[in-house]
Amino acid sequence: LLGPDLHVDLDRADLRRSLQNVLRDAVRAGRLPAGTRLPSTRTLAADLGVARGTVTSAYEQLVAEGYLTARRGSGTAAGSVPSAAAAMPEAAGSARPRIRWDFTPGQPDLSAFPRAAWATATRRVLASCPNGDLGYGDPQGSRALRQALAGYLGRARGVLTSPEQIVVCPGYTSALSLIAAVLKAGGTRAGPDAGGPRIGFEDPSLPHHREVVAHAGLAVAGVPVDERGIRVGEIETSVVVVTPAHQYPTGVTLDPARRTQLADWARRSGGLVIEDDYDGEFRYDRQPVGAIQGLAPGHIVYAGTASKTLAPGLRLAWLALPPELVGPVVAARRMIDRHPGVLDQLVLADMIGSGAYDRHIRQCRIRYRARRDRLVRVLGERAPAVTIRGIAAGLHALAELPAGAPAEQELIAQAQQRQIAISGLAGHWISAPARRPGLILGYATPAAHAFEPGLAALAGLLTAVVRPGRG
Ligand SMILES: Cc1ncc(COP(=O)(O)O)c(C=O)c1O
Repeated sequence: LLGPDLHVDLDRADLRRSLQNVLRDAVRAGRLPAGTRLPSTRTLAADLGVARGTVTSAYEQLVAEGYLTARRGSGTAAGSVPSAAAAMPEAAGSARPRIRWDFTPGQPDLSAFPRAAWATATRRVLASCPNGDLGYGDPQGSRALRQALAGYLGRARGVLTSPEQIVVCPGYTSALSLIAAVLKAGGTRAGPDAGGPRIGFEDPSLPHHREVVAHAGLAVAGVPVDERGIRVGEIETSVVVVTPAHQYPTGVTLDPARRTQLADWARRSGGLVIEDDYDGEFRYDRQPVGAIQGLAPGHIVYAGTASKTLAPGLRLAWLALPPELVGPVVAARRMIDRHPGVLDQLVLADMIGSGAYDRHIRQCRIRYRARRDRLVRVLGERAPAVTIRGIAAGLHALAELPAGAPAEQELIAQAQQRQIAISGLAGHWISAPARRPGLILGYATPAAHAFEPGLAALAGLLTAVVRPGRG
């Protein structure tokens, strides 16, 4: 029996004392949590090249001190002493009230992750994939997943693409930074400006994505959004990032005339559109619109993600690229992370192929639709001064606050006092004149059992603090 592996750095001048010190420190610091089995004295002595008696006497001493426990038949294990980590004072900020009702946007209901379907697909993949699949994989993403995605995206989102044009990435964030790196290096027709092109972003939009682009060394410019989506006529950059199916965070959809206008703009100006279709699968009013990519596939980069359909922790997203961008993006990828984990890619490919992925999305759509209806109904009844904006889609709703309502930060702080987490619109604006106060409510975030009581708590807060406009 070889027992668990243990890293021990010994002072050869005093082996016994040094071994004691190392083990004692490891238990104290929590590196060997209580119950962790230690190697047998014979094994550890052989590993360290010391006499077995040295190890035996060190173990005995530490058992006597309480740092280790020894039980006949089950060997020696780490004892339970207060670890350094446990003794640390509470970090600053951790005194905040515990959150019971989480309505922050950006997450699906993680308790609805299709564990059984994922396990079935994993078993099938492990039983069938050749050993070679576990080696370094294709930097573009596994062929099986790219094939499955090409079919899925065509069928479900109206994307015109092929497996050869798809690149799998560990999340949209990674996908966007890859594209930004390519644009910065001048690897496309959209990058003639010195220092790389400026990138247009919807105003408002998710600040993190603008930071990703800025981090790559590119400048960012805002393009206003109104009730019909991004104002295409006001794009002044050669590249623009858009969320046409469900604008983030306002929740409006890009209207048909603007969709055509955007595709025409890209075609005519030689510009590049990056379409972030982060929650396109979730539309509840029976008027689903496909991706705009299909209107000008040579000029639009389509980006999709599993972060809303499955779970953000998977880190799986995909790009459908105009053909000439594939080479530069894959080359940039080689410099960063080779490729996302192969097993997860194969499991997702299996789930798409078996229909389990579509089934899961359909089930989620029903659930999230019911939640959105409840949110609109309950807030409409109990906090009528708050206006829910945007179309019936996605996993979040924008709640616009009336004039005279408390400032966003004040509301967020008051919510926290009631153990509710919500998010404000403030950080999403690019230009100051456009600002309006609002809350972004992630109604998919709570687990199923927490949704109704959470909604009641949220309505209670808004009833109490938001009164109809006073001017
Ligand atoms: C607007 C928007 N786009 C894309 C994403 C997905 O990002 P990722 O795939 O990195 O999780 C999110 C997630 O919150 C989002 O809000």
